[in-house]
Parts: sequence; structure tokens; C-alpha cells
Amino acid sequence: MDLNFFQTYLPLYFQGAGYTIGLSISSIVLGVILGTGLALMKMSPNKFLSLLANGYIQIVRGTPLMVQLFIIYYGLYVINIELPDFLSGVIAVSLNSAAYIAEIIRSGIQAVDKGQMEAARSIGMSKSMAMQRIIYPQAIKNILPALGNEFVTLIKETSIVSVLGLRDLMFTANTVRGATFLPFGPLVVAAVMYFIMTSIVSKLVDILEKRLKQSD
Ligand code: ARG
Repeated sequence: MDLNFFQTYLPLYFQGAGYTIGLSISSIVLGVILGTGLALMKMSPNKFLSLLANGYIQIVRGTPLMVQLFIIYYGLYVINIELPDFLSGVIAVSLNSAAYIAEIIRSGIQAVDKGQMEAARSIGMSKSMAMQRIIYPQAIKNILPALGNEFVTLIKETSIVSVLGLRDLMFTANTVRGATFLPFGPLVVAAVMYFIMTSIVSKLVDILEKRLKQSD
């Protein structure tokens, strides 16, 4: 395998990886904000809110991210909203991720043992106080590691934006393939870089998980 292209294009690869990381971080942050809202809506006693959130979650999880990406990218164009490519990418990926994050948060909260709420209530805490002091601190232990895993997923899944010409790591690999006429090698470099990024984040998630378990 000819690896000479590697030296020439390494800076470009780093740019692409930077784009991928930027897109993933922005999307997870926005996704957590939206996902928290959706989770609270879904758990709310208000039937309308809960149905709305559930409908959103079902539709987003039941359709491909690629289709959602195209709908948002060209949908915004049709209604005459022109956003920078990066922003369209962040919107599409975070709207998608929010549905998964909502379920992470909801299941994280509901996984806390029922007895915890009962015990808190029996010593006289109000429901909202019990949620804040007893339930949420325990739920966080379920939620944070799962959010870390969602971030790993986003690092990989954002590669889909390359089909729209957004300059992420996957797009870089294809650019290098075109420029060098090498069909294979540039992809392996991208795969290695993706793997390094996801391994680092997974490792950090492991460490976090162990830390959170310590207080159990
Ligand atoms: N490939 C999946 C799809 O097309 C990606 C879903 C995104 N997953 C996630 N946890 N954000 O639907």
C-alpha cells in the first residue's frame, strides 16, 4: 500500500477530524438540552405533552438519520432559510440525538428504585424535593455514562454529513481518495482516526463510570 499520501494530507485529516469533533460536541450539547426537555415532557402527567414527546421520539428513531439530514438541509433551503453547512449539520444531528438522549434520561430516572421515592416521602419530603435531592442525584449515575456512549455514537454517525459535502473526517478521506487516485488507503487512515477518537472517549466513559460507582 502506498502511504506517501499520508504525509501530504495529514493536516487535512486533522482538519476533518476537528470538524467531526466540533460537530459531535455541538450536537451532544444541543441534544442534551432538547433531550432533557423531551424526557420531562414524556414523563409529565399532561397527556398532550407526553404524547407529543413520544411521537417525536418514535418518528426520529424510526427514520434514518440520513433522511432526516436531507429533509433538514433541503427543507430549510425550500423555505428560504440559508444556514451555514455546519449549522445545518448540527441541527439535524442534534434533533436526531435528542430523541435517543430523551430515552437515556427517562430510563435513567425510572431505573432509580421505587423505594427511594417512598422513603423520601415517608420522612416528609415533598415530591419535587425528593426528585431533586434523592432521585436525580442517583439518576445521574445511570445517565452520564450513557451520554458518553451517545457521544461515541455521534462521532461515528456524523460521518453521514459527508454525503452533503460537509468537510468532516469522512469527507476528507474521500477528498484524498480523489486527489491521489488511491481508492483504499485514505479510508483506512480515516478509520484509524475515528477509532482513536472513539477509544479515547470510551476510556473516559469507563473511568467516569468507575468513579460514579465508588460512592455506591
Ligand atoms: N444509523 C442510525 C440511523 O440511521 C443512526 C441513529 C443515530 N443514533 C443515535 N444514537 N444518535 O438511524
